[in-house]
Amino acid sequence: MSPADVADIELVDVTKRYGDHLVVDQISLNVPKGEFVSILGPSGCGKTTTLNMVAGFHSPSSGRIRIRGRDQAGVPPEKRNIGLVFQNYALFPHMTVAENVAFGLKMKGTSKSETEIGVRRALKSVHLEGYEARYPKELSGGQQQRTALARAIAPQPSVLLLDEPLSNLDLKLRESMRVELKEIQQQLGMTFVYVTHDQEEAMAMSDRVVVMSGGVVAQAGPPVDIYQNPASSFVADFIGKSNLLPVERAEFVDGDSRLILRNGLSLIGHKAPGMDLDQIRLCCIRPENVQLAVPGEASANRLSGRIDKMVNLGAHVDLWIEVSPDVVLKALVAVRRLQGLEVGSQVDVRIEPSAIQPLSN
Ligand SMILES: Nc1ncnc2c1ncn2[C@@H]1O[C@H](COP(=O)(O)OP(=O)(O)O)[C@@H](O)[C@H]1O
Ligand SMILES: [Mg+2]
Repeated sequence: MSPADVADIELVDVTKRYGDHLVVDQISLNVPKGEFVSILGPSGCGKTTTLNMVAGFHSPSSGRIRIRGRDQAGVPPEKRNIGLVFQNYALFPHMTVAENVAFGLKMKGTSKSETEIGVRRALKSVHLEGYEARYPKELSGGQQQRTALARAIAPQPSVLLLDEPLSNLDLKLRESMRVELKEIQQQLGMTFVYVTHDQEEAMAMSDRVVVMSGGVVAQAGPPVDIYQNPASSFVADFIGKSNLLPVERAEFVDGDSRLILRNGLSLIGHKAPGMDLDQIRLCCIRPENVQLAVPGEASANRLSGRIDKMVNLGAHVDLWIEVSPDVVLKALVAVRRLQGLEVGSQVDVRIEPSAIQPLSN
């Protein structure tokens, strides 16, 4: 294998048990150099435990962790050339911004002049030039997080591990920091492994998302792929909004699949690769793919219903449309398309076959 083929981080069947409690169950993961990978999942699914094993704070019960091709068994955290931005890794309150950022460089035995250069470079990367002499309490939450980031990148680690670094910030700041973090990562060309329970955050920043559930990887791939082709109802439900409809039976029609729902409703969908028709139990339809049909227009998957509930969110409206006594579809519609519709109105909706994702669980 040439050096270019060596992943920055590689997990092979990594398992972690605490007594009888299986917290991480045979996770395998390859993170190429320069990639922004998010580990996304609900609280308690094993994200922090996984990151702590990469950082070297805990060792796996079984499996291997390699960093740049080197097995890390027995390698202490400070020897892994990894930067950390953890939620509970607060700034040193008695040190200035410059002293905080210099900390890791000093620990490495960097000379005074090199440290000054390193601090300046790191503060420039996070847009905090001019804040050198401030103390953490004189900074806003966003500036504190940027300082923590500068402290982590100053020693120029090859990999940065981030554990929910934005979760203490308010929504507006969190959204702007997302964009900034991604830009910083791209400018540095540094490998980022980012842990979050916030699906929007993961979607917005990542080249690849690893969705975890109960200690295992539920699905991994580029954010758009995961959103468009969730592998299970868990992923469909966790990432974005979805209609999850039970499928009673599925059959072939001209290369497509016809999914028979309750009450004789049926939908035409594309066949899911690698799934037999008799494995299909559910289908997922994203609300933005439930569209109001134009009267008279012929289209596949046209259903008639009645608006049951409506929430106007300014630019768009969430609609709940009852298409059969116990089948309600959520739809996301632009306000300008409503044209006088209200709760109780009869509407026709249509769904493109490509927007119907069959699922086995
Ligand atoms: N040191 C520990 N001893 C026992 N159980 C632990 C320990 N650390 C974490 N756990 C358990 O492991 C599970 C996963 O925890 P964690 O990795 O922190 O989840 P996440 O970061 O996804 O919220 C939780 O059920 C937690 O209670
Ligand atoms: Mg955690």
